[in-house]
Amino acid sequence: MPVVTLDRPQDTTAAAAPRSGPARSRLRELALLPPQAGFVSLAGGLPAPELIPRAAYAAALADVLDGDAATLQYSQPHEPLRERIVELMRERGIDCDPRQVLLTSGAQQALSLAAQLLMTPGAEVLTEEHVYAGLRQAVLPYRPSLLTVRTDRDTGMDVDGVRALLMRGARPAFIYAMADTHNPCGVRLGHEQRKGLVALARRFGVPVVEDDAYGLLRYDGDWLPALRARDAEWVIYAGSFSKILAPALRLGWLVLPPRLASEAGVLKEAADLECSGLTQRAVARLLRHRFAGHLDRIRAGYRRRRDVLLAALQDHFPEGTRWTRPPGGFFVWVELPPGLDGDRVCGEALAEARVAVVPGSAFAATAGAPANRLRLSFSSCAPDDIRTAVERLGRLLAKKLHPG
Ligand SMILES: Cc1ncc(COP(=O)(O)O)c(C=O)c1O
Repeated sequence: MPVVTLDRPQDTTAAAAPRSGPARSRLRELALLPPQAGFVSLAGGLPAPELIPRAAYAAALADVLDGDAATLQYSQPHEPLRERIVELMRERGIDCDPRQVLLTSGAQQALSLAAQLLMTPGAEVLTEEHVYAGLRQAVLPYRPSLLTVRTDRDTGMDVDGVRALLMRGARPAFIYAMADTHNPCGVRLGHEQRKGLVALARRFGVPVVEDDAYGLLRYDGDWLPALRARDAEWVIYAGSFSKILAPALRLGWLVLPPRLASEAGVLKEAADLECSGLTQRAVARLLRHRFAGHLDRIRAGYRRRRDVLLAALQDHFPEGTRWTRPPGGFFVWVELPPGLDGDRVCGEALAEARVAVVPGSAFAATAGAPANRLRLSFSSCAPDDIRTAVERLGRLLAKKLHPG
């Protein structure tokens, strides 16, 4: 099975300014392209429409609207929801208290609040050379420098690279890590690497911001506890209901060290007062009464789509192309044969093959990141469409490699 070996020499010395807005806008543009006949999108990180628990949410919403009049008022964070989140966190090996849970408008606001808590203007942030584009947006107001390490397909973030940077004196405001269900690379951090990363955070006093937006969507192999399960002081955890329930709820959370919890609450209030009290109550009710079996169902649905995509890649992608085999989440990361450029392939895929994919450049944290990468999302397409899209992409790549 060909796989991506993301093992080029890393650029651990250069602190490069992040690319700003346009990359993210391009990503959202691609991800949210309106449906058109004959066109297939493997671009977005969107949940499959049929795996969103629409009826359960409608029923939960009707229940709460029928009940307490306070449902439509300004309100304090809804305690039963924080308690349900504490229960969900046990699935990730995390033992926390509802007072450590701050409700946010999705994981995106969780990242922005973490940046506000930890950063000063011009601060450094340590991350991987390909990173979730929304992280760059969250830190952008601080005009930071990004220090990057490479990503290994088996062991995830290069923790030895992190150690080397810290040993050389780097003191970033935080380390941004996706230990599981990585976006965009679909890799996970190994057991030893998790231990090592948390030990470094403690030793050097550099917090880790753990983005676990897809962490409850692991469907293969053993579960490894989240980084936050190893350390409650130096790991700040960001979670989300977007991928397991629905993005439109705009509901996520932070699990914070006690010393930061009250300051984070003030920042949340300054940003937008509170998350919708109505949504909080409906989600709490759904989690309490209509959630049994839901995670297993959606994990099976995404596993099936992942398997269809991997089989299609094997059948249709040319020799020399390599890709990851994600144990969870929504994404496969493709390394194109040398000489092919991800941006060009993406443009031609859209125009000629009528398939949307995202070029690796949309995730590049620094200018030196490899240009021959693509992210393919299998989450929101029907299996037949996934096969069609990969077959068309395969034909396009073959034509580029062997013109005429
Ligand atoms: C890695 C990662 N973190 C955070 C987010 C933001 O998610 P939310 O919808 O919870 O704000 C996303 C959304 O795609 C994501 O992929």
